[in-house]
Amino acid sequence: MSDLKRGLGEAVAAAFAAVGLPPALGRVTPSDRPDLADFQCNGALPAAKVAKRDPREIATEVVAKLAGDPQLALVETAGLGFINMRVSDAALAARANAIAADARAGAGMVETARKVMVDYGGPNVAKPMHVGHLRASIIGEAIKRLYRFRGDEVLGDAHFGDWGYQMGLLIGAVMDEHPDIAGRLAALNARTGGIPAQETADALALFSERVSLADLDRLYPAAAAKGKEDPAYRDRARKLTADLQERTPGYFLLWRHFANVTRVALERDFHALGVDFDLWKGESDVEDLIDPMVAELDAKGLLEDDQGARIVRVARQGDKRELPPLLVVSSEGSAMYGTTDLATILDRRQSFGPDLILYVVDQRQADHFEIVYRAAYLAGYAAEGSLEHIGFGTMNGTDGKPFKTREGGVLKLNDLIEMTRGKARERLREADLGAELDPDTFEATAHKVAVAALKFADLSNFRGTSYVFDLDRFSSFEGKTGPYLLYQAVRVKSVLRRAAEEGFTAGPISVTEQAERDLVLLLDAFDQALVDAYDKKAPNFIAEHAYKLAQGFSKFYAACPILPAEPPVRASRLALAQASLKQLELALDILGVEAPERM
Ligand code: ARG
Repeated sequence: MSDLKRGLGEAVAAAFAAVGLPPALGRVTPSDRPDLADFQCNGALPAAKVAKRDPREIATEVVAKLAGDPQLALVETAGLGFINMRVSDAALAARANAIAADARAGAGMVETARKVMVDYGGPNVAKPMHVGHLRASIIGEAIKRLYRFRGDEVLGDAHFGDWGYQMGLLIGAVMDEHPDIAGRLAALNARTGGIPAQETADALALFSERVSLADLDRLYPAAAAKGKEDPAYRDRARKLTADLQERTPGYFLLWRHFANVTRVALERDFHALGVDFDLWKGESDVEDLIDPMVAELDAKGLLEDDQGARIVRVARQGDKRELPPLLVVSSEGSAMYGTTDLATILDRRQSFGPDLILYVVDQRQADHFEIVYRAAYLAGYAAEGSLEHIGFGTMNGTDGKPFKTREGGVLKLNDLIEMTRGKARERLREADLGAELDPDTFEATAHKVAVAALKFADLSNFRGTSYVFDLDRFSSFEGKTGPYLLYQAVRVKSVLRRAAEEGFTAGPISVTEQAERDLVLLLDAFDQALVDAYDKKAPNFIAEHAYKLAQGFSKFYAACPILPAEPPVRASRLALAQASLKQLELALDILGVEAPERM
């Protein structure tokens, strides 16, 4: 389905060709001056440079060829040689009817679908999620949905951080706190051959009884701090990590317990945030691929010894800054963060064969990914350019530093959601909304408002920009916020419900009022917003569109009464309202936001 811009572009290109100029000059863009025109074409300016002519003269010739085009109500030259166009009411109505009849509300699809993997979220065992994970989850989910909506085959993977040094730290900390667990581990570790099922179950039961997620949350920061200060403690943790990676039976079982308890809580939190992974693979899942990979890297001559460690050098001539090598095997013999990332590329190639892998991870990890990608390209594990880091800035506190809790600790997703939900309840009551809802529906609505507030605040900024967490602003029903969008969607729903109660039905759209014109032009711009968001991997284009559409509907509704209008006008406006709601809901769905039925 072609949007207005494309339809006009074809006509203008033909007009350029008709006056002997390259049709490519006929590119049409939305007007910079909506008060004067809907669309414009600037092609006469470059044409004039080449032909050494007056651009106004060329524009006038092109305009003459366009005169009488039924798509146009007005076409004229302006300024230095711009071509200004106003779309005819008939063309607007035709486009509006096409959007109304389209399940995708005017959104196009990619020409060639690709297989795309989105690596996002990136939570870790026993480490509470910080704001970086929150943003990774929100942005990653939106990018996954957007790519899927545009027609690609997409898989989202959480890439659970479950195989690094922090595991060794935790195993050590648990043994120090629980001598009986330490004893049990020693006995299990001494076993050769498999461990009988009953013994495994008994050990897991013991771990569950003694070590909860809250314990891990408490033990990890202390152990991490001690590892930084105390070399002996650190060495032990490294040794435990290497032992775990060799699947020493007791450690491996304890690790399974860590992963289980963490995962249950994480899945609950992600679910509350409307984030759902297709794959929940972890770093540990590629363990079997690591030895053969190391052998292969060695055979390809890429591996170098470096003081007992094994590395791949990735620096290139002309690099602006010095990139450290990829550390593949540490001097203790363990696989590192980059090692599992490299092996995961192999795993993904075998299991899915992606054309593109997008890594939605904090900007601060840019070097890490550049190093891994270069190693992957050197080893021939991925096509140059098929691995892309989609970095983002941080969500900051008012002090300008990454957001912390009032006590100065890391933010837990669960607490953040709870806090935002509390605020949402308050806001609903303040605005006199939700009073007729039963308590469960009120709660569900507050939850939707909270999720909309958090996600929209994040996604309405370009991802590279850091922003300040401001719950008062994010949760307001006024301004550029998630709750405002939900409120507008609910208003449209309520108009449509009332129309249905009266037995009014939608009919063909005709466009006469200015507010109708403006609304149709907005509906028409959806596809471009999706294309921009897709190409730049930047959901803020969709957030911006959703906001403008909600505002446009609100203006339309104020200027063009629906229910009291005469039947044909009413039917037309009802159809416009339906199309607006459909498009708004599609846009919100890509952003991962859901509007309630009532408020
Ligand atoms: N778990 C990592 C962290 O917390 C993020 C993982 C990102 N994805 C990846 N493939 N490395 O920093």
